[in-house]
Amino acid sequence: KKRIFSGVKPSGDLTLGNYLGAIKNWATLQEEYECFYSIVDLHAITVKQEPAELRKRTLEILAIYIASGIDPEKCTLFIQSHVPAHSEASWLLTCNTNMGELSRMTQYKDKTAKVKDNEAIGSGLFNYPVLMTADILLYQADAVPVGVDQKQHVELARDIAQRFNSTYSDTFVLPDVIVPKEAAKIMDLQDPSRKMSKSDDNPNSFILIMDKPEVIRKKISRAVTDSIGVVNYTDEQPGVRNLINILCALKGYKPDEVVDMFRGKGYAEFKSAVAEALVDEFTPVQAKVRELLSEKSKLEEIYKKGAERASYEAQKTLRKMQKKIGLVPR
Ligand code: TYM
Repeated sequence: KKRIFSGVKPSGDLTLGNYLGAIKNWATLQEEYECFYSIVDLHAITVKQEPAELRKRTLEILAIYIASGIDPEKCTLFIQSHVPAHSEASWLLTCNTNMGELSRMTQYKDKTAKVKDNEAIGSGLFNYPVLMTADILLYQADAVPVGVDQKQHVELARDIAQRFNSTYSDTFVLPDVIVPKEAAKIMDLQDPSRKMSKSDDNPNSFILIMDKPEVIRKKISRAVTDSIGVVNYTDEQPGVRNLINILCALKGYKPDEVVDMFRGKGYAEFKSAVAEALVDEFTPVQAKVRELLSEKSKLEEIYKKGAERASYEAQKTLRKMQKKIGLVPR
């Protein structure tokens, strides 16, 4: 079986973008691939986190993975910081990465665009893609399922792997990107030119996986559309197109089918179909998350077993890296 690695960082509550762009797709892929899915807490601390919140959210995300249909019997689920090889490999790779290629990462540029002074930018934020590279390469992943916003980082991981292979000799599998079709980039409900993001200040911009039904209905009814008034899948109607994408990703429809379904109908009817599809999807997930969080020992068992399995694979690769670089084996 081919292998995949992916992760979500617990830096905020998970959104519909994380769910459709990543988690729901991961559940589908588990039948076909050997999967390693992590909660990447070391990535979350590249920006300030409240310790108690971080701890709580990390476990909630593990519960969300399982509640969304990711089977801990089939997949390796673990918390990144439980496998120290990630930090170690990250340093070895940092020494094989140049400032230039990290400076070109668009996520870094976006996140620091408004900061005038380098003194105010954490170096963790700059080095973030190297840690992500370590995550992927340690498991010799053939593919990495992510939303479009993470594509550039996976390509960097591939470049770094290729360079390491040619500097030292064949060590890493070169990872490919897997991007979901309609859900590759779920847009902000208030500004459909931007990606939906958990760090947005306006809660009407995003749907959270744990949002209550009435909140979901309200946010969808307020979603920005246009004055054209016809449900069409075009660039001129980015708000409507985004809602069509959401409905397609939830229900397995094609965009054309949705356009046909709502021919001659108004936005109110269309939006309420989108809202109900979301409520139908998230109600059972939320119930399962609550159930899982009420029996912490079960979650603990899952992440401990996951860390053991992940460590075994990660150590194998780390040893190889150390040896090739010239570190004396213990
Ligand atoms: P993060 O935590 O920002 O997002 C987790 C996953 O959700 C996807 N995503 C979206 N997809 C579609 N539409 C959106 N609006 C949207 N918002 C987020 C992301 O593309 C991602 O797949 N650096 C990564 C975490 C990471 C990782 C890794 C991923 C660390 N190491 C190794 C893959 C492999 C991140 O910050 O994702």
